[in-house]
Amino acid sequence: MPDGQVLQNPFKPTAGKMPPELIGRDEVVDEFYEGLLNGPGAPERLIRVSGVRGTGKTVMLGEFKRIALNMEQKWTVVSETASPGFSSRILEALSRSHAPVDATLQPTALGASLGSVRFERSSLNLREAMMRATEKNRGLLITLDEVQDASFDETKALAIAVQHVIAEDRDVAFAFAGLPSMVSEIVNGDTLTFLRRAVPVELSMVPIGDVASSIEDTMRRIGRMEIDGRLVNRLATASAGYPFMVQLIGYQTWQAAFRRCGRRAGAVLPCDVEAGIEKARSRFDAMVIEPALQRVAPMELRYMLAMSLDEEKPSSTSAVAARMGSDLAGVSSYRARLMKAGLVESAGRGFVAFAIPYMDQYLRSRRDEIEQGMLV
Ligand SMILES: Nc1ncnc2c1ncn2[C@@H]1O[C@H](COP(=O)(O)OP(=O)(O)OP(=O)(O)O)[C@@H](O)[C@H]1O
Ligand SMILES: [Mg+2]
Repeated sequence: MPDGQVLQNPFKPTAGKMPPELIGRDEVVDEFYEGLLNGPGAPERLIRVSGVRGTGKTVMLGEFKRIALNMEQKWTVVSETASPGFSSRILEALSRSHAPVDATLQPTALGASLGSVRFERSSLNLREAMMRATEKNRGLLITLDEVQDASFDETKALAIAVQHVIAEDRDVAFAFAGLPSMVSEIVNGDTLTFLRRAVPVELSMVPIGDVASSIEDTMRRIGRMEIDGRLVNRLATASAGYPFMVQLIGYQTWQAAFRRCGRRAGAVLPCDVEAGIEKARSRFDAMVIEPALQRVAPMELRYMLAMSLDEEKPSSTSAVAARMGSDLAGVSSYRARLMKAGLVESAGRGFVAFAIPYMDQYLRSRRDEIEQGMLV
């Protein structure tokens, strides 16, 4: 680093923020890039990214954007979040960068229901704007985030427009992302067969070995902190390969070392690692586990509490049912909903496990508090 430049924490535990190194996603990145190179008709130009909070969906869409903008051929990128009115915002963005479409035909900013006439117009306008954006051999990438919350009408209007522009052999790509519930609610919805053909990218944990080499490299090369292999492994294991946790742990550990070294380059010691992990754990609870639990209905929470008694091991579904004073059939809908929400995953026939690390510890340590909360 040149003299005079301030040494900054290289880890980025912030939603949507590009990490210092994108760990374990090379395959997806390569596939997307190749899809752009391969021209209209390449399947990777229609891609859906799903995963629980903090697995890197927004970052993945950001990476797709970067790839498109770095292509030799000129690509326009429009990135939106699927909150109400997103279809008109996309239309506006397209009109801003290219010839505007007739203002009287703009769709409403209403997210709820567009009504059939408005819906048709909205889709037509989008299609027209996309056709203009892809004239003269220009490419167009649209990314849409948080699709689990999207209005069905707006998603459909956009999907139909994209489908038409693809059929015209234009250079268009559409990448959308959301929580796992998006797949059942939006993608497999009755009329959106087009979205069902999207290449699925299911983001989950990244390999611990890759986490270790990335943490080591980031600490040394960008963060200017020496660190020995044993400590690197301790950090990587504590991250459980969860992308957000990797950043949290790296950030807190680097910060502890930096402070102890008098705000200068130096070396990470075991005390920094332990302090870093502890702080990261409590932030993780507040930022990932508690928000995830807020979306869970009381009986599903009971299901997870019953699972947590197995202390880090997968739970037998019949044992969980028995703990709840029921049988398999009686609790199967809770299990199904938890799986759909990406909180619980199958762990072989007749077994389930938590999909988010540290969730079971959290539930065990606050069992009484949670049960009392459910009574009120
Ligand atoms: N492949 C990766 N390697 C390392 N860190 C990553 C990776 N992907 C994401 N991160 C980090 O994880 C954190 C969460 O990323 P991001 O906000 O993209 O997740 P998300 O899935 O969109 O979460 P949410 O559902 O809350 O929107 C960020 O701090 C980001 O820097
Ligand atoms: Mg996100």
